[in-house]
Amino acid sequence: MASDSLSITDNRTGKQYELPIADGSVRAADLRQIKTSDDDFGLLSYDPSLLNTATVRSAVTYIDGDAGILRYRGYPIEQLAEHSTYLEVVYLLLNGELPNKEQLLEFEEDVRFRTMVLETVREQMETYRYDAHPMGMLLGSMATMSTYYPASRDVMDLESRKIQTVRAISKVATVAAWCYRHTLSYPFIYPDNDLTYAGNFLNMLFRMVEPKYVPNPVIERAIDVLFILHADHEQNASANAMRAIASSQADPYSALAGAIGSLSGPLHGGANEAVIRMLQFIGRKDNVPEFIKNVKDGTSGRLMGFGHRVYKNYDPRARIIKTLADQVFEVTGVNPLLEIALELERIALEDDFFVSRQLYPNVDFYSGLIYQAMGFPVEMFPVLFAVPRTSGWMAQWNEGVTDREQRIVRPRQIYVGEGERDYVPINQR
Ligand code: SDX
Repeated sequence: MASDSLSITDNRTGKQYELPIADGSVRAADLRQIKTSDDDFGLLSYDPSLLNTATVRSAVTYIDGDAGILRYRGYPIEQLAEHSTYLEVVYLLLNGELPNKEQLLEFEEDVRFRTMVLETVREQMETYRYDAHPMGMLLGSMATMSTYYPASRDVMDLESRKIQTVRAISKVATVAAWCYRHTLSYPFIYPDNDLTYAGNFLNMLFRMVEPKYVPNPVIERAIDVLFILHADHEQNASANAMRAIASSQADPYSALAGAIGSLSGPLHGGANEAVIRMLQFIGRKDNVPEFIKNVKDGTSGRLMGFGHRVYKNYDPRARIIKTLADQVFEVTGVNPLLEIALELERIALEDDFFVSRQLYPNVDFYSGLIYQAMGFPVEMFPVLFAVPRTSGWMAQWNEGVTDREQRIVRPRQIYVGEGERDYVPINQR
């Protein structure tokens, strides 16, 4: 009778061990019993970058990378993008169930109630240089919120967690819009709570002298769908950063700053900015074959917006964004870089170098084309990723701080440095 266990023979000692298998995994701690002597520390598992290590049990988001499946709390991303709204999805991520009408109205009201940001945040933002990168300003501003809400340090208090969660999700949009306004030296626009979350975001970004900002419905819906698509993605690098920082019971704003920092990298959320710079560098459709050749021989860096640690198939979000682009371009005009992007995708998907490495377009490949067509500078693209991902980070945070299996994150290491040696006086070196 097959049993859910691993039989291991340590050939160094001839000893045999049975390791239980649960949920398709073995517990790394079970390896510690495998020793060569009583004073042996026992075996570690070595997994740089956590390529093959589950660090948490989570019910928030499910990804099947081979099948190109993404579900939030069991609901397929395609259905949520078509039928839901961003705040309804946020409620789902946080609470595990879709809200009924009353619950949704109450949640939307709670988010609207917290859109204002303290004036000291605005004053701090005005001290940034004119050319400060918006991601740096966002990171700094969200970190500063830990100084305004000291009660946020009581991470084990449910009511405090609820307030901080809504505060972060609501205020990140206001702060993000103000980062954009600062780069233009425009006056900051205050929230208009008559508008939807996406509509108010557009208001704080783009309102000029008109007494009341009226969002274009196509653009408003496109932002709402883009926010749904970017809301969460299980244990990506920035979610891992959020959980690791929060594992010391640091406040959620300090953890958010770390998550934003992780997302800002060009291999993660900074890729949407890197994609546009790559397309601008290529310049014309007929330069694509040469560029692809250079990527393959390593002289042009990576094909940004392609590849994924989990998806070994087309990123389902990229498919939806590609369709959304056509709707946005009907309003904004087609982004001239689109034909270069389409040619890059066409060639890459036929080229064995990319196919053999299972490199397909990811969420960042087309999103930047939409943001650019909407008028955003490339520096704002990762900020537009961070705004909706704040809801995912907060959902992961709430799940992590209440997970009784979790303790402070403190990995082991394999020491490869010098053995013990004595200090040498400087006149003898
Ligand atoms: C996001 O984790 C998430 O869920 C992230 C995200 C989310 O929603 O949170 O989905 C958002 O970050 C999407 C990814 C955005 N990043 C990019 O588009 C940057 C370009 N892509 C990569 O650098 C890369 O594909 C990663 C970082 C996304 C994944 O890297 P892995 O899994 O560590 O893969 P790897 O670096 O080990 O590469 C495997 C091979 C290597 O070749 P060999 O050394 O085997 O010869 O594939 C090559 C890599 O050189 N490769 C690429 C490539 N990506 C990987 N070659 C060219 N172009 C690329 N884009």
